[in-house]
Amino acid sequence: MKRYVILISGRGSNMQSLLDTRLPGTCAAVISNRPDAAGLAWAAARGVPTAVVDHKTFATREAFDNELAAEIERRGADLVLLAGFMRVLTEAFVRRFEGRLVNIHPSLLPAFPGLHTHEAALQAGVRVHGCTVHFVTPSLDCGPIIVQAVVPVLTGDTAHTLAARVLAQEHLVYPQAARGILAGRCRLEAGRVIWTSDATSAEAVLRVPEDK
Ligand code: GAR
Repeated sequence: MKRYVILISGRGSNMQSLLDTRLPGTCAAVISNRPDAAGLAWAAARGVPTAVVDHKTFATREAFDNELAAEIERRGADLVLLAGFMRVLTEAFVRRFEGRLVNIHPSLLPAFPGLHTHEAALQAGVRVHGCTVHFVTPSLDCGPIIVQAVVPVLTGDTAHTLAARVLAQEHLVYPQAARGILAGRCRLEAGRVIWTSDATSAEAVLRVPEDK
């Protein structure tokens, strides 16, 4: 069984969706850079090991990333899932976990990297929005795309209503991507995401919610 860790900074709803799914692997730990992250208590209550590497106690980004990497390696993780982990990681950290470091971002990358993606989508007037699960590269919110989900932008949407529609899809596509990687059906090869042929392409990379 492969081992994975989930990194969070806050409420951890994506972490919950990953842990609620029967993934073909063992969660070695949920790790947070914030001792008060609400998701830590949720994980601990379910018997999942938790750890805190508090970024405020490190003088430099490099020192924090070194300790975070050491904690991940102590847990014997094959895969690192960033789930609302709101720290910019150094290039050295990203290279150390290349091909094993995955993030979810609440936009259809490469559109709207960074924060406040739903406000940016409304401001831009796009008619579709969504979320992206991707392998992490040193640039912020960038990297080979594993799977995306698309939602419509509706008349009268606010950042709040749009965020909720996207989040519901995040909770579906992140477990889908994690399952593919842990089961060996999806991997990073020479900077490209390869899904094996036993996954149909639509199932592998795109989720479009049906009309109700
Ligand atoms: C999620 O919407 C996730 O996509 C986003 O933070 C939220 C965390 O929510 N991540 C990013 O913006 C990363 N750039 P959660 O703690 O409930 O999973």
